[in-house]
Amino acid sequence: MKDRLEKTVSYLKEKGFLKPEIGIILGTGLGKLIDQIEIEKEVSYNHIPYFPTATVEFHQGKFIFGNLSGKKVVVMQGRFHFYEGYSLQDITYPVRIMKELGIDKLLVSNAAGAINKDYKKGDLMLIDDHINLQGGSPLAFKGVSQFGKRFVDMLAPYDKDMNSKFEEIADKNNITLHKGVYASVVGPQLETRAEYRYLSIIGADAVGMSTVPEVIVANHLNLPVAAISVLTDECDPDNLQPVDVEEIIAVANKAEPKLVKLFKGFIEGI
Ligand code: HPA
Repeated sequence: MKDRLEKTVSYLKEKGFLKPEIGIILGTGLGKLIDQIEIEKEVSYNHIPYFPTATVEFHQGKFIFGNLSGKKVVVMQGRFHFYEGYSLQDITYPVRIMKELGIDKLLVSNAAGAINKDYKKGDLMLIDDHINLQGGSPLAFKGVSQFGKRFVDMLAPYDKDMNSKFEEIADKNNITLHKGVYASVVGPQLETRAEYRYLSIIGADAVGMSTVPEVIVANHLNLPVAAISVLTDECDPDNLQPVDVEEIIAVANKAEPKLVKLFKGFIEGI
């Protein structure tokens, strides 16, 4: 992997991805932050050596470099999911690349289902902890210790200082920001009523199909990370409504300005 990383990084540096300070991963239906960026460079994932190729059609699949609130950022517009058939190592490869490019903080967003009955669709949730239900680890590969510890501590996977900052910004802007536990499943099917019940019992406040592998790798790299879920549907097993992806995206789009405010506010404050 070292060899591949070096090649990908030197390709991006040649393209002008120089000294980004913050990395941002934008989830499904959450691309509007891009409009706030003075874009300097952008490259489609399928042009980047050793990058997985984007398959989910509503993701534009681009790596963007530019200025946001006076800071250099590198942004993933669209991410890779385990359910697309890639390995957990593949879907987290971009996190390693962003770290190699020089970021010292990572911000992650996603669309998730609300398990906690007090959380409503359109609300935001700051992820405080997670439960990995994807049945594997992005760190389970030969030679992992070349890149960091094998037995990575998961005591505080989400950076406490970054999370406090987000809570302050939410407060100042009158944005409701719940805090909770995110459970990651493989998908792409949604959960059964029995699975939603189970998720609630084991302590999940939200469920989604991403983020956890990326956060594990960020921790492997000692890269401080914070993640926010946009809750797009309510997963009450006793009153479950049919949900479709278009609706999930529509709710994400509607709640998105709040997320943009939080991310922008955070970056301004660094
Ligand atoms: N389950 C899993 N992933 C999701 C959901 C859900 O209910 N909503 C949005 N992403």
